[in-house]
Amino acid sequence: MSSIPILLLMLVFLLYVDANTRQNHSTLIHLDSSLSPNVTAKRSSWLSPSGLFAFGFYPQGDGFAVGIWLINQTEKTIIWTANRDGPPVSSNVVLQLTRDRGLLLQTEQGSVAISAVEEPSASAAMLDSGNFVLYNQDSRVIWESFKFPTDTILGGQNLSAEDELVSSVSKHNQSSGQFSLRMQEDGNLVAYPVNSSYAQYDSYWSTGTDNYGSSTQLTLSHLGVLFLRNDALVVRVLANSSYPNKNNGTIIHRATLDADGIFRLYVHRFESFNSSSTLVNWSALPNQCEVNGFCGLNSYCSSEGSKAVCNCYPSFVFVNPINKFQGCYRSFTNDGCRQVKEPAMLYRIDILENMRWGDYPYSVVPAKKEDCGKLCLEDCNCAAILYTNDHCTKYKLPLRYGRVSENTSATAFFKVITKNITTPPVSIAPEVLTESKRGLVLTLAICLGSISCLCFIFSIYSFFRYKHQVFRYRRLSENANLGLIEDFTLRTFSYNELEKATDGFREELMGSSSFGAVYKGTLPGGNKTIAVKRLEKVVEGGQQEFKAEMTALARTHHRNLVRLLGFCIEGSKKLLVYDYMSNGSLADLLFKSGLRPIWKERVKIALDVARGILYLHEECEVHIIHCNIKPQNILMDDTWTAKISDFGLAKLLPRNQSRTTMRVEETTGYSYLAPEWQKNALISVKADTYSFGIVLLELLCCRSSIEINVPSADEILLSSWVYNCFMAGELDKLVQGENVDFMTLERMVKVGLWCIQEDPALRPSMKNVILMLEGTMDIPIPPILSPVA
Ligand SMILES: *[C@@H]1O[C@H](CO)[C@@H](O)[C@H](O)[C@H]1NC(C)=O
Ligand SMILES: *[C@@H]1O[C@H](CO)[C@@H](O)[C@H](O)[C@H]1NC(C)=O
Ligand SMILES: *[C@@H]1O[C@H](CO)[C@@H](O)[C@H](O)[C@H]1NC(C)=O
Ligand SMILES: *[C@@H]1O[C@H](CO)[C@@H](O)[C@H](O)[C@H]1NC(C)=O
Ligand SMILES: *[C@@H]1O[C@H](CO)[C@@H](O)[C@H](O)[C@H]1NC(C)=O
Ligand SMILES: *[C@@H]1O[C@H](CO)[C@@H](O)[C@H](O)[C@H]1NC(C)=O
Ligand SMILES: *[C@@H]1O[C@H](CO)[C@@H](O)[C@H](O)[C@H]1NC(C)=O
Ligand SMILES: *[C@@H]1O[C@H](CO)[C@@H](O)[C@H](O)[C@H]1NC(C)=O
Ligand SMILES: *[C@@H]1O[C@H](CO)[C@@H](O)[C@H](O)[C@H]1NC(C)=O
Ligand SMILES: *[C@@H]1O[C@H](CO)[C@@H](O)[C@H](O)[C@H]1NC(C)=O
Ligand SMILES: *[C@@H]1O[C@H](CO)[C@@H](O)[C@H](O)[C@H]1NC(C)=O
Ligand SMILES: *[C@@H]1O[C@H](CO)[C@@H](O)[C@H](O)[C@H]1NC(C)=O
Repeated sequence: MSSIPILLLMLVFLLYVDANTRQNHSTLIHLDSSLSPNVTAKRSSWLSPSGLFAFGFYPQGDGFAVGIWLINQTEKTIIWTANRDGPPVSSNVVLQLTRDRGLLLQTEQGSVAISAVEEPSASAAMLDSGNFVLYNQDSRVIWESFKFPTDTILGGQNLSAEDELVSSVSKHNQSSGQFSLRMQEDGNLVAYPVNSSYAQYDSYWSTGTDNYGSSTQLTLSHLGVLFLRNDALVVRVLANSSYPNKNNGTIIHRATLDADGIFRLYVHRFESFNSSSTLVNWSALPNQCEVNGFCGLNSYCSSEGSKAVCNCYPSFVFVNPINKFQGCYRSFTNDGCRQVKEPAMLYRIDILENMRWGDYPYSVVPAKKEDCGKLCLEDCNCAAILYTNDHCTKYKLPLRYGRVSENTSATAFFKVITKNITTPPVSIAPEVLTESKRGLVLTLAICLGSISCLCFIFSIYSFFRYKHQVFRYRRLSENANLGLIEDFTLRTFSYNELEKATDGFREELMGSSSFGAVYKGTLPGGNKTIAVKRLEKVVEGGQQEFKAEMTALARTHHRNLVRLLGFCIEGSKKLLVYDYMSNGSLADLLFKSGLRPIWKERVKIALDVARGILYLHEECEVHIIHCNIKPQNILMDDTWTAKISDFGLAKLLPRNQSRTTMRVEETTGYSYLAPEWQKNALISVKADTYSFGIVLLELLCCRSSIEINVPSADEILLSSWVYNCFMAGELDKLVQGENVDFMTLERMVKVGLWCIQEDPALRPSMKNVILMLEGTMDIPIPPILSPVA
């Protein structure tokens, strides 16, 4: 069926090859030929034999750029620009064809190579196809502009896998603009706004050929057929503008990703040298508003006749009222929301019909249309809600890719601050405040007043409590020779004793902790097996602090924590003695193939670990942030109960080094560290929640969070793979056909995704994690994960 087009295409290629070989040698450009924008001194361009294309300097801004254009009496159509994002050059530069560096632009500041060539060039030519080529001694092409397209391809030109077209800023400015058309590795040709995350929801147009594979090329034939084709000769024709050539004229076809983001096929007809015409034969999208990113953040696009205009959402204003494409910002701050008891009173809801936008919601609630507004008012995170199909989907700012379209029935609800409540008018007589407003202001004042009062009391309490604790520790540790032995059943060992117990530190346990090596030993007398950890990276000296920390750790007793039996401190030698865990670490259990624990076992481990962390965070006397939760630090005892080790040690690292030490570990522990570690932000208990989330996902899928040996690139990063599977409703992929309870799996996946949110405030507390894991608390749909930098 498709053989006719294929035959035609082959014909097209034959014609093309033919055109190429009929190279007009009388227009060859020889070595040392040069151009300059200063036409009084030199010529400023080289023409193709047909005289339709020119290579050389064209005016750009207040200077010149080097490029190729299609000649027209009235207006140049720029096809290609060298170094498009560089500044315009002045009128006294010279462009020369050199032997060793190809085309060389000589400016006052120095010389810039326009074409990177690996072998000496001998000549160059501006071909009738619009391709500028450099030849070597044997007339073989060593460089061609067709290989480096900017926003346009011409007849005979290809776009191969990994190539892209990037639109220009405007018709008169060829610098890189806002849109990108990518020939993807999978064979799909997709248009995105540049600097987006290039995720599926960012794309606004594609050929849907994602099964064509990496050999796929986009080609525009000389006859004007725009098509995709792969090695298997599967062809998809996008446009066919093969105009019959009635009157001996020349026709040039050009496909351009225009500055407005739409990919178009143009036909230029040159009937006689005087008369030419330009037609748009095909346009990828009929409607400008469908181009994502055409209007900036927090604005939406609407069509007015053939024009598209950008508008701000209710109570938003333009970032730049002169250039409305740059988006909008909210004209009020939302800070008040979290500070008042009933935030709903501060706001009202504005409604827009037939609205849609991109991005994922952070929460989806099944509800009736009339309840959406209320849901948003009650939630400080909510900026707007989109109601579709009996669901209120909640969004935060910024809102992307908005547009009105008569074809969507969705209704948008925007949270808008009630008139001038937070900033009462200054000059206009304050006595005109109505009674109700006065009441509201009073309520607010009382609320804020009492909140700050409470804060004050709390801080005083905290201060005294802290003083008290410090005092107590000091007294304890000063209590000659550690009276704490009896108090907390923590033993002090001598170094000799431990050396003997471990047989001279002979048997090092696998997977040593980040603080130093761990050795197996046996206590003399009893048959008790112990694990002795030699602290290597901790602060020098500081005996008192060390003892204080040990005292604190001695009070931690929990089923899901490895028990500290005692310690040794002699000079710079610091050792900790723990219960020995006979069944190794969770890392061994999960990542060593063949040992994949059964589903029920994994669910139990997840809960055990969560309970251990909750104890550290909230239940033990001195609250502890673990800072280093990872499968290597989760050990299994002889009854296969998971126990967390290495807790409470982060404090022992030199104060300003703890961050760097955490980073030194990047090779092994990087993926478990919450983003705030890299950002130098405050570390809170939520950093542990993040690490727990990663461990939870690993536990569910029995694989490491970063795995190179996977069938497809999407699966390398566990978190995004899980997120994608979750959104696509394909959770079964995660467990490889294992017999699991899907309700539980979905619940645990949701918990994991909430835990690894970039914003610590969004991550749940460990208490809620446990409630959600146990199924006693409902779990909203987790928001989209921000791409990992
Ligand atoms: C393009 O159109 C011409 C004339 O309309 C037709 O003969 C030709 O088969 C078409 N080519 C392809 C590849 O569809
Ligand atoms: C080659 O170039 C010369 C001079 O520009 C022109 O007269 C001639 O027609 C060209 N020949 C072909 C085949 O294009
Ligand atoms: C152009 O070249 C001429 C002759 O070399 C020179 O006199 C003139 O100053 C140049 N103009 C500019 C703008 O560089
Ligand atoms: C072209 O656009 C870029 C990016 O907006 C800008 O930096 C540059 O100055 C513009 N160039 C001219 C000649 O207007
Ligand atoms: C080329 O010139 C003609 C008039 O000579 C004009 O109508 C046409 O729009 C021009 N084409 C382009 C692409 O500028
Ligand atoms: C475009 O692709 C075709 C088929 O692979 C090839 O024959 C042709 O040389 C390519 N054109 C250019 C300019 O590389
Ligand atoms: C894209 O990001 C780069 C680097 O941050 C920036 O220079 C460029 O202006 C951005 N482009 C657009 C269209 O926002
Ligand atoms: C594109 O070109 C084809 C072939 O000449 C023609 O049939 C078609 O109507 C043209 N489309 C437009 C929109 O001009
Ligand atoms: C096309 O060229 C042929 C031969 O060169 C000539 O006889 C014919 O009149 C030309 N047609 C037109 C429309 O110019
Ligand atoms: C080109 O246009 C000029 C005036 O616009 C006219 O005098 C001349 O005859 C035209 N030449 C051709 C070949 O059409
Ligand atoms: C709405 O749908 C109709 C029919 O599907 C279509 O013709 C029209 O262009 C669409 N309107 C918009 C604004 O997308
Ligand atoms: C707030 O008050 C000012 C001054 O009275 C007025 O110009 C502005 O429109 C008011 N804003 C709202 C949202 O009502």
